[in-house]
Amino acid sequence: MDKDYPIVDLSLAVSSVRFFTDTLFEVKLTSPTPLPKIHTGQFVQVQVPGRSDVFLRRPISIYKHGEYELSLLIQVVGKGTAGLAEAKPGDHWQVLLPLGNHFREPSGQKPLLVGGGVGIAPLLELGNHLKAKGIPPTFLLGARSSTLFPELDEFESLGRLFITTEDDSRGELGYVTDHSILHSEAFTDVYTCGPTPMMKAVAKWSKAEGLPCQASLENLMACGMGVCLCCVEPTVAGHKSVCTDGPIFDVNELLW
Ligand SMILES: Cc1cc2nc3c(=O)[nH]c(=O)nc-3n(C[C@H](O)[C@H](O)[C@H](O)COP(=O)(O)OP(=O)(O)OC[C@H]3O[C@@H](n4cnc5c(N)ncnc54)[C@H](O)[C@@H]3O)c2cc1C
Ligand code: FES
Repeated sequence: MDKDYPIVDLSLAVSSVRFFTDTLFEVKLTSPTPLPKIHTGQFVQVQVPGRSDVFLRRPISIYKHGEYELSLLIQVVGKGTAGLAEAKPGDHWQVLLPLGNHFREPSGQKPLLVGGGVGIAPLLELGNHLKAKGIPPTFLLGARSSTLFPELDEFESLGRLFITTEDDSRGELGYVTDHSILHSEAFTDVYTCGPTPMMKAVAKWSKAEGLPCQASLENLMACGMGVCLCCVEPTVAGHKSVCTDGPIFDVNELLW
C-alpha cells in the first residue's frame, strides 16, 4: 500500500466517554488541528495514561472519524484496556496514528461485512465508506447476547443488518456462520473482523463460496511499527507483520 500519509504521535483530548456495558465503551478524542488522512480499517496505538505498570501502547481500531475527531470502541480485557476505561472528559491521550493498511475496494456491488464482539468497530467505518461510494453494505453481526451490541442503529442507518446471538436474545440463534442469509442470498465480497475462530469460519465459508474475503487480524502487538516482530502472522509468502503488512489480509494469503 502507498504510504501517502504521515504517521503522527498526537496528544488528543478526551471529549466524551460512553459505556454500553460495564466493560464496553466508546471514547471520543479531539484534536486542535486536522487529523492526518485516515483510511478505512486503519488503527491507532494508544498510550495508557497514568499506569506505570502498562508500558506498551495498545492497538485499537478506528471506530469513527471526522476531520478533528475520532472515536474508539474498547472492550476491557486486561490492565491496559482497564486503564483506558478510567478516561474522563478533559484527559489527554497520546495516540500514534494512522497505522496499518486499509480495506481494499470490493470487486462487486454486494459486499457482506461480518463482525463479532468488538471486531465490529472497523466495519462501521467500512460501511460508511461503501455507502458513500453507492455500494450498500450488508452487516452480519454476532455476539453472545443482544445487550453486548453497541449502537446497532448506526449500522442500520448504513445498510441492511442481520444479527446472531448465542442466547437467542435477538436475531437468529447461534454463530454468524449459522445465519440463514449465508444460504439464501448471493454476495460479491466478504469483509470480517472479530475473534480468530469466527474469522476462520467466515474465511472457510467464503472460500467454499468462491468469494474474495478480507480479514482484519488482531494479533498481539508491541511497537505497532514493524520493528519488534511480535505480531507476525505466517502467510503463504512467509511471516508478515500484522501491524505494517496488515492488519487486513486476503484470507487466501493466510495459512488458515
Ligand atoms: C489492529 C488491532 C485492532 C484492535 N482493535 C480493537 C478495538 O477496536 N477495540 C478493542 O477493544 N480492542 C481492539 N484490539 C485488541 C486490543 O488491542 C487488546 O484487547 C488490548 O491490547 C489488550 O490489552 P490489555 O492490557 O487490556 O490486556 P492484556 O493484559 O494485554 O491481555 C488480557 C488478555 O487479553 C488477551 N489479549 C490481548 N490482546 C489481544 C488481542 N489482540 N487479541 C486477542 N486477545 C488479546 C491476552 O492474551 C490476555 O489473555 C485490537 C488489536 C489489534 C491488533
Ligand atoms: S507490533 Fe512490533 S512488529 Fe508489529
